[in-house]
Amino acid sequence: MEMKKIRMGIVGAGTWGETHASIYAEHLFAEPAAICDMNREKAEKIAEKYGIPKVYSDYHDLAKDGEIDAVAIVTPDFAHADAACAMAYAKKHILIEKPLATTKEDIAAICEAVAKSGVRCMVDLHNRWSPPFNLAKQKIASGKLGKPYTAYIRLNDIKWVATDMLSWAAKSSILWFLGSHSLDSLRWLLDSEAKRVYSVKREGILKAKGVDTPDTFLTTIEFENGAVAQMENGWVTPNGNRNINDFKCSVMCTEGMINLDLSSHNLMEEVTEDGSCVPDILVSNMVFGHCGGFSYESIRDFVDRLADGKEFRVSLEDARKTALAILAIQESAKTGQPVEVEY
Ligand SMILES: NC(=O)c1ccc[n+]([C@@H]2O[C@H](COP(=O)([O-])OP(=O)(O)OC[C@H]3O[C@@H](n4cnc5c(N)ncnc54)[C@H](O)[C@@H]3O)[C@@H](O)[C@H]2O)c1
Repeated sequence: MEMKKIRMGIVGAGTWGETHASIYAEHLFAEPAAICDMNREKAEKIAEKYGIPKVYSDYHDLAKDGEIDAVAIVTPDFAHADAACAMAYAKKHILIEKPLATTKEDIAAICEAVAKSGVRCMVDLHNRWSPPFNLAKQKIASGKLGKPYTAYIRLNDIKWVATDMLSWAAKSSILWFLGSHSLDSLRWLLDSEAKRVYSVKREGILKAKGVDTPDTFLTTIEFENGAVAQMENGWVTPNGNRNINDFKCSVMCTEGMINLDLSSHNLMEEVTEDGSCVPDILVSNMVFGHCGGFSYESIRDFVDRLADGKEFRVSLEDARKTALAILAIQESAKTGQPVEVEY
């Protein structure tokens, strides 16, 4: 059966922009139709690899391209808003990488652009597609464990992500880069909004390595339904850790508990003379050359739901509330005082 494919544009031809290109290239209802990067060579390289016919170096030109239906915004954390707004006002549906944006003004600008233009928008808070988290959500939502009471979540990266992988780590923080995933997961599992936050940060290890961003944030979050959570987000796990992420989560309910150990699963261990590693099979892997893992599933789901018209599984409102709570956490860590989240 022949069906019209959704023509996807991509802004940002870095590590994750390539991930988007690989999904659209193999999706039955989509095709990667244009890619844009201010560094044109990077866009050209990905275009060649995935057979993308159009390359732009200015996202305004991509916005003007009438042949593009939807656009993925895959620029650095602090650089989502301008491109996202331009696409929305050009009537293109948008998938924005997490976090939605990193300032109150940018968050508001994106929400206004989406509301005024009537386009559809999803933000890639992909943890909801992680099989263990998804099952935990189902179990908690069933009510058989009672009501969520307390939770602990720890989502840390090895140092290499801040020192070597991201050229812009100093213009973001682990709170934006991973805290947005962990906070969205808490909101989803506890089915409530963060009300009051108290965060303590430490810095110095990454600064000594020339990356001016905090090392770690330890945060207590009180939710509107009375649940309380502790959230740890650090960028200083030793590089010898066998996974990029160090990821744990527990939810204590009034009549039961869920424990998730996401990064010590030993699903597969590879051992050589130099050491060993445990691939992140749940997150991303290739099966017979096809993208597998929940970090691909969320992007694929954007296309599926654009095609069938169903509601996205992460709404713009989810991403807006997550980003505003992260801003409050940032403020608390700066002032040393608890902060009420303003929605
Ligand atoms: N969902 C996930 O699991 C996941 C994983 C990694 C990264 N991300 C997110 O994806 C985004 C990109 O991360 P990355 O690791 O690919 O970064 P990256 O530095 O590898 O790539 C970003 C690219 O954007 C380009 N760029 C910046 N501003 C631009 C502009 N105004 N117009 C056009 N191009 C521009 C840069 O030249 C660069 O090539 C970030 O928001 C990050 O948090 C999400």
